[in-house]
Amino acid sequence: MTETRPETPDGTARPRLGVGMVGYAFMGVAHSQAWRNAPRFFDLPLDVDMAVVAGRDAGKVAAAAARLGWRDAETDWKALVARDDVDLVDVCTPGDTHADIAITALRAGKHVLCEKPLANSVAEAEAMVAAAAAAPDQVAMVGFTYRRVPAIQLARRLVVEGRIGQVRHVRAQYLQDWIADPSTPLSWRLDRTKAGSGALGDIGAHVVDLAQFITGEAVTGVSAVLETFVRERPVAEAFTGLSGSGSTSGATGPVTVDDAAVFLGRMSGGGLASFEATRFAYGRKNAIRLEINGSAGSLAFDFEDMNVLHFFDASEPAVTAGFRRIVVTEPEHAYVAAWWPAGHGLGYEHAFTHQAVDLVRGLAAGEHPTPTFADGLQVQRVLDAVERSAADESRWTPVTTSTPAAAGTSTPTPEEAAR
Ligand SMILES: NC(=O)c1ccc[n+]([C@@H]2O[C@H](COP(=O)([O-])OP(=O)(O)OC[C@H]3O[C@@H](n4cnc5c(N)ncnc54)[C@H](O)[C@@H]3O)[C@@H](O)[C@H]2O)c1
Repeated sequence: MTETRPETPDGTARPRLGVGMVGYAFMGVAHSQAWRNAPRFFDLPLDVDMAVVAGRDAGKVAAAAARLGWRDAETDWKALVARDDVDLVDVCTPGDTHADIAITALRAGKHVLCEKPLANSVAEAEAMVAAAAAAPDQVAMVGFTYRRVPAIQLARRLVVEGRIGQVRHVRAQYLQDWIADPSTPLSWRLDRTKAGSGALGDIGAHVVDLAQFITGEAVTGVSAVLETFVRERPVAEAFTGLSGSGSTSGATGPVTVDDAAVFLGRMSGGGLASFEATRFAYGRKNAIRLEINGSAGSLAFDFEDMNVLHFFDASEPAVTAGFRRIVVTEPEHAYVAAWWPAGHGLGYEHAFTHQAVDLVRGLAAGEHPTPTFADGLQVQRVLDAVERSAADESRWTPVTTSTPAAAGTSTPTPEEAAR
């Protein structure tokens, strides 16, 4: 599993990049696949070494290491961070651990890839950005993975090329249904001390980031409502997967996060935005839906049809104008040439590989691959404004922006830069 390709096509040796990953469940599995596949499908400037994975249970983490392709296992993330064979720490744990692990790793001279949302509070996110600023030669990247879906990259490209003109409306939804059933038990995602917030930070954060990334604009203010529909749930004795299914003891406990978030916003370019994040939309499994209307056209995307982008060009004759269904699987589309022939389609896991590829290429080039911790902080500020607005009868609440150029496009991704 740890076989690597130590030489570039011209025969020179690639410098080694030792990766240490903390957490090995949902995201740990997705990131492991990315680290395994990235050097096999893309020509990378560094030799990725899946050095070590950390968990808390010795038996389980050793089994995960063997299954997922890591050379070694640790039972304490601090031991992983301290290892000489770890150059980059990949944080795949719940939000309450992000700041501690990421800041410790940055101070130890390691690069960091941290899962989203960046932290559980603005204060934590600010401390992470400060640690990254104090380590300017190190990568500090946050895992807003959906940016690296080829159709999302195409949406961004069409905005940059002026194909939809000035952005007037952003309509963004992230709809799931995995806790719509009140008997679904409690899990860390429903615990504010672990997750920071509920649907808002877990999935709302993604659509805030995507709205900012695609438009190149920041959300400047919000008016919000939050709701917790099911306030008490069974306590699970064991969990399997995201759904939190598992045997229950008969006891119940409180849900301490929002089940759904709905908010209006203004974009820095003058456009209006609406956002919805819920895990109570029966029938919607992972529906990231974005529609952007500009002065020259429109874009529409739904992750449940993730290889497709819809584009309306308002300059076309009205008689034949209509939304064009673009199947984003041509070799000219971002990342696709490394995979399969046109029309064969990519899936959920590919964006994680693209994230690893862009990270490694950016790191080797001495750049700060996006989204950076500063980009993560900007999203955190939006989430914070949403919570403050909702707690104050939906009062209009500006998003504080003390970090300059913190919107999603502070620097282009390598894929964008290559165009
Ligand atoms: N990028 C995405 O699209 C995406 C998707 C899902 C989750 N996430 C994010 O990834 C992170 C992890 O979520 P998940 O779904 O993988 O959760 P999960 O519950 O499936 O896995 C969490 C892992 O962290 C481990 N862990 C928890 N505390 C730890 C500690 N103190 N030390 C070591 N290990 C610890 C657990 O044992 C488990 O292996 C969260 O921040 C979540 O928001 C991102």
